[in-house]
Amino acid sequence: MRYTAPKGVFDILPSDDAGWASSFRWQYVEKILRACANDYGFYEIRTPIFEQTDLFIRSVGEGSDIVNKEMYTFTDRAERSLTLRPEGTAAVMRAYVEHNLHAKGDRHKLFYIGPMFRYERQQAGRYRQHHQFGAEAIGPSNPEQDAEIIDLAMQLYERLGIKGLRVLLNSVGNQETRERYKKGLEAFLAPRFEQLSSDSKIRYEKNMLRILDSKDPSDQALLEGCPSILDYLDEPSLKHFEMLQALLKKTGISFEICPKLVRGLDYYNKTVFEIVTDSLGAQNTIGAGGRYDGLIHSFGGPDKSAVGFATGLERILMAMIAQNISFESSPAPFVYLIGLGDNAQTKAFELLSQLRHHCIPAEMQMPSKKIQQALSKASELKASYALLLGEEELQKGVAQIKFLATRQEAEIPLADVLSKFLALKDPKTQSSTQTSIFGTVS
Ligand code: HAM
Repeated sequence: MRYTAPKGVFDILPSDDAGWASSFRWQYVEKILRACANDYGFYEIRTPIFEQTDLFIRSVGEGSDIVNKEMYTFTDRAERSLTLRPEGTAAVMRAYVEHNLHAKGDRHKLFYIGPMFRYERQQAGRYRQHHQFGAEAIGPSNPEQDAEIIDLAMQLYERLGIKGLRVLLNSVGNQETRERYKKGLEAFLAPRFEQLSSDSKIRYEKNMLRILDSKDPSDQALLEGCPSILDYLDEPSLKHFEMLQALLKKTGISFEICPKLVRGLDYYNKTVFEIVTDSLGAQNTIGAGGRYDGLIHSFGGPDKSAVGFATGLERILMAMIAQNISFESSPAPFVYLIGLGDNAQTKAFELLSQLRHHCIPAEMQMPSKKIQQALSKASELKASYALLLGEEELQKGVAQIKFLATRQEAEIPLADVLSKFLALKDPKTQSSTQTSIFGTVS
């Protein structure tokens, strides 16, 4: 039986040829994301991959696509209903309440990186296991906090070199705003109900606002001239929205106001936003988020405000590749050891572990091959040096060192192998050691 990965999931491989699914590239992106989050004062939280099902139903919302169609829910052996997390915010808020973090300060800034699970129709940029970097700021209700989140998001993309992003911004006000707006939208759509797509007819009953998000072109045509939620905003939400816009302008972040932007998760109030790019095809949202002030309270915690966002790592990597952005070079051995013959192999192994124990990245040809094959392997792995060891060299107590960039070679005593490579690895002594071993490198 030959197994393949289940539909909609993928492997991340240690290879430059794996495109966006190269683990070297993932590690590079994750390193930048972590460093940038820390620079903004966000520190890492790790929550489990599964949670009680009810946590997501109550936060993401019963009427949402995620809860209705996309959750991986199962019962464990004790008949508990558990769900593989479809998103990170609910889990982080659960942890915040469970560990009484509010007692340890009135402001918490947390970030996470990890897999999320949604049973969605697979297409480029949309997977059943995808990975998110998310940041959540708990405490302040100030618009500065929303601006900090959007600025962090844009700074992450900036540091990764991603260009051509657009920030779409809206406010969905408070609960009462949305109830009044739903009535306005209902009045507008009632005479058009029969022309709505079948999906939107269901949303009309279950989750009216989501009709605004319909991808169906005829729904979008029907929505032409529909009421704008911004005309329904309560006074504090309107003020918050205006201040946020002023702050973003000061930070140099351009944005577009999109009154039809409503998110697929029910916990938002006031600010919502999405960051989109033309580099991703149909799945053009690279990151998204908003404010969700009532969520912590609904989980039995204090009445704390919160705002956050998340960005898909697959989509970041795909956008970087589409934009020809270069990644940090992949890891390579500094030395590639080649033992020719049984005794030489044994000695090569001894030297290999000695070098590694002194933090010199090293690899060894195994099993023993012909010299030319071994040298091409060293080049393929992008090693800096090869160290060749034959039975004859072993007798003489020496090894051949080869500088792969210039193909220059020299003989060094076996007893000096470690000290020579330590000197070659050290940027301060590297060039003098190279000259002393190979002569002047032109
Ligand atoms: P979301 O918009 O559902 O928001 O997901 C955030 C990001 O995850 C999306 O913008 C997209 O880049 C990526 N993403 C989502 N689903 C998939 C998928 N099936 N395949 C590939 N990438 C995907 C949230 O999850 C909220 N928790 C964000 C948030 C944090 N709001 C406040 N704090």
